[in-house]
Amino acid sequence: MAELEHSIIVIFGASGDLSHIKIFPALYSLWEEGFFPDNFFIVGFARTRFDDDGFRKTIFDALNVNCRKRPITDEDFLNFSSRIFYLTSQYEGAESYAELGRFINLKAKEYNIPKNIVYYLSTPPSVYMNVIDGINDAGLTGEDFKKDNFSRIVIEKPFGYDYESARDLNSKILSVFKEKEVYRIDHYLGKETVQNIFVFRFSNAIFEPVWNNKYIDHVQISSLESIGVGFRAGYFDKAGVIRDMMQNHMMQLLSAVAIEPPALFDADDIRNEKAKLLKSIRPLSLNDVRKYTVRGQYDRGAEGGKPVVSYKEEEGIPANSITDTYAALKLFIDNYRWAGVPFYLRSGKRLKKHKTEIAVYFKKLPYSLYGKDGIEKIKQNSIIITIQPNEGISINFGAKAPGFKVDVEPVNMVFNYKSSFKLSPPDAYERLIYDIILGDQTLFARYDDTLIAWQFITSVMNGWARMETPSFPNYEAGSWGPVEADRLITEDGRSWNN
Ligand code: BG6
Repeated sequence: MAELEHSIIVIFGASGDLSHIKIFPALYSLWEEGFFPDNFFIVGFARTRFDDDGFRKTIFDALNVNCRKRPITDEDFLNFSSRIFYLTSQYEGAESYAELGRFINLKAKEYNIPKNIVYYLSTPPSVYMNVIDGINDAGLTGEDFKKDNFSRIVIEKPFGYDYESARDLNSKILSVFKEKEVYRIDHYLGKETVQNIFVFRFSNAIFEPVWNNKYIDHVQISSLESIGVGFRAGYFDKAGVIRDMMQNHMMQLLSAVAIEPPALFDADDIRNEKAKLLKSIRPLSLNDVRKYTVRGQYDRGAEGGKPVVSYKEEEGIPANSITDTYAALKLFIDNYRWAGVPFYLRSGKRLKKHKTEIAVYFKKLPYSLYGKDGIEKIKQNSIIITIQPNEGISINFGAKAPGFKVDVEPVNMVFNYKSSFKLSPPDAYERLIYDIILGDQTLFARYDDTLIAWQFITSVMNGWARMETPSFPNYEAGSWGPVEADRLITEDGRSWNN
């Protein structure tokens, strides 16, 4: 592992859930494993009133619930947390940022740390603009701060609300930071299984030659969750699954499975290929949105055998909400490799199973030597890339069942992470935070990828806004989603890999 430069990490929104559930557990794991700068300090900046000790206590409690390295001993925590500070602050106005600047100067001097600063925005998106202005107006990226040092900004999703707001947010960020200083997080890219899609495709001789429209019939990308909206009503009801999952995670999975091999595996080349790929998605007219997209919202039902309420009955959700908790769509990529191959994408909450996978189906045999049975039982060869849980890859094909007659039966060849590597992979956030401090943008979205993805998704949202809303709820909690989503694929003579 490369050694990391001494750094200062400022977390805006440090008192919030994300910081306690993901960011601090990742920081602690990196520190504990020795993958952290030797010299560092962390400043929490948020509205909730805490002193340093009070804030550290919330982090200690959170680590003992959410950190891969738990249980955390008092001694280890003391060593780690003596470099964590907290400033009770306001996002609006200049005073809190001026105070932050004074604090950084003071501590940087005390610990003899160069001002290599990561500004991590883990606030509600509504204050992103304030924070960027605050950083800028207080001169926190100015010469005094930047001279010979780095200054980077990390932005959590949702990156914008639609194409226009994402473009405005981009412009604001790029008026203060250079693109090479901007890290737009999509935690799916930090997942080992997503990074492995590139390795699977580009480091094996056997898959890439058949990875095209000559051999592949269609691709399914599914990110299905059994949980409901939980405690995130305020955010989710404004976003829906289309913004929450489709615009980012699903587009990243699509990119990983479909991009051309880059010249080099580096940030520029990978992201150039992604932008090219996303640009090749065929735009959807209003009529296409009608034909090729489905939205849904969950009704009452059951999860894990226990009854659960409908979306509209969840705490904080308006009783007349028309927010989508499920979306499915069919798209085409108009390029040489994929012309004519449909990609079916679906994502939703309160579904029968929790799984994220990419299922690649190969074309049917033109003719079966083994009669109707051969074709019917095998149907299609497939490669199933399971992103989570039971991370792995399976290749499905036909084999002769033992016996005197030729009986073709479907079998699987399975690679499973746990049994092959016997290691628990780092959490996505650990990998991403490590890369941020290292300065490697390969696993982060670039401004153009983000905007192109928004362009496509905004066309779907605009189509939905012009169409009549389906009568929600339209699928039972604990089911596979709306029947219309089955129709979307069965109409083409195919079916979801449930
Ligand atoms: C987040 C979404 O980005 O991803 C959540 O906001 C979703 O709604 C989550 O539940 C899924 O992440 P993972 O890693 O559990 O698949």
